[in-house]
Amino acid sequence: MKPDLSVEIAGIKLQNPVMNAAGTFDLECYKDLVDISKPGAYVPKSTTLKPREGNPQPRIYDVLGGMINRIGLENVGAGEFIHNKLPIIHMLKPIDVPLIVSVAGESIEDYLNTSIILETKSKGRIAALEINVSCPNVKSGLVFGSDPELLWELVMTLKSRVSLRLIIKLTPNVTDIGLMAEAAVSAGADILSLINTVRAAAYIVRGPSDGQWIEGGLSGPCIKPIALYMVRQVAKAVDVPIIAMGGISNFEDALEFLRIKNVWAIAVGTAIFRDPSTMTKIVDGLY
Ligand SMILES: Cc1cc2nc3c(=O)[nH]c(=O)nc-3n(C[C@H](O)[C@H](O)[C@H](O)COP(=O)(O)O)c2cc1C
Repeated sequence: MKPDLSVEIAGIKLQNPVMNAAGTFDLECYKDLVDISKPGAYVPKSTTLKPREGNPQPRIYDVLGGMINRIGLENVGAGEFIHNKLPIIHMLKPIDVPLIVSVAGESIEDYLNTSIILETKSKGRIAALEINVSCPNVKSGLVFGSDPELLWELVMTLKSRVSLRLIIKLTPNVTDIGLMAEAAVSAGADILSLINTVRAAAYIVRGPSDGQWIEGGLSGPCIKPIALYMVRQVAKAVDVPIIAMGGISNFEDALEFLRIKNVWAIAVGTAIFRDPSTMTKIVDGLY
């Protein structure tokens, strides 16, 4: 008999603690390649209020131990997500695999309006919202997740108007991530997830963009020690469930994060690009 790997995080039941990181696993693309019934939850790419085209090329560049991306949150916008994407996800995804929808924005109103659309129009198909606070506020230029007061105001506003569970996804691009965790939790965050990508740059020496610079977010195995450090800092600062990510490529990496206090689940991102069955292999490894 297989052991029970199920976990319950702030009332959300997962059949196992393994999920994908936002923006790295599209159910429609992978449905014929991997067993999409295996993960504990499914997280699509971040959704914004209006559609976004994202950044021009180059958007992705391989570096030693990882990759830099500057995709720029390309997505269809909340309205189209509800009308076209959500029904497909609902059809493809097993009913007992909860859907966590990632939300991004340029102002508190943006985050709020997107969250309200997702909550009120999704017919109960969304289990939680993951708030991607790695975006800059158009008014001040400050990144939501790097200013404790701004972060507190954002989370407090969402908490007062939205009843779905709120997962606040922290950015590692700060001096003291414990302080950000405290701000998010004091404003009512149910769960914290971390880390998003680490700011980085590279001079491109291969391919069609040869000779250009790329600045973006670094992800993959090379950020795992940074992620482990940051998750430990957050676990010391606050007492809420954590979904940990950053460079997880196999079940040994997953176990390393799951050893940290309050880490109830892990997410896999960049490793999926190299091997789409990484999540399945991690779940099998945990059994
Ligand atoms: C191509 C790509 C797209 C991403 N898109 C998003 C996104 O839409 N929203 C978000 O919160 N994080 C996004 N991320 C960040 C990941 O969800 C994850 O936090 C980060 O990559 C660290 O995990 P990893 O090292 O396992 O990839 C993206 C990462 C990559 C590589």
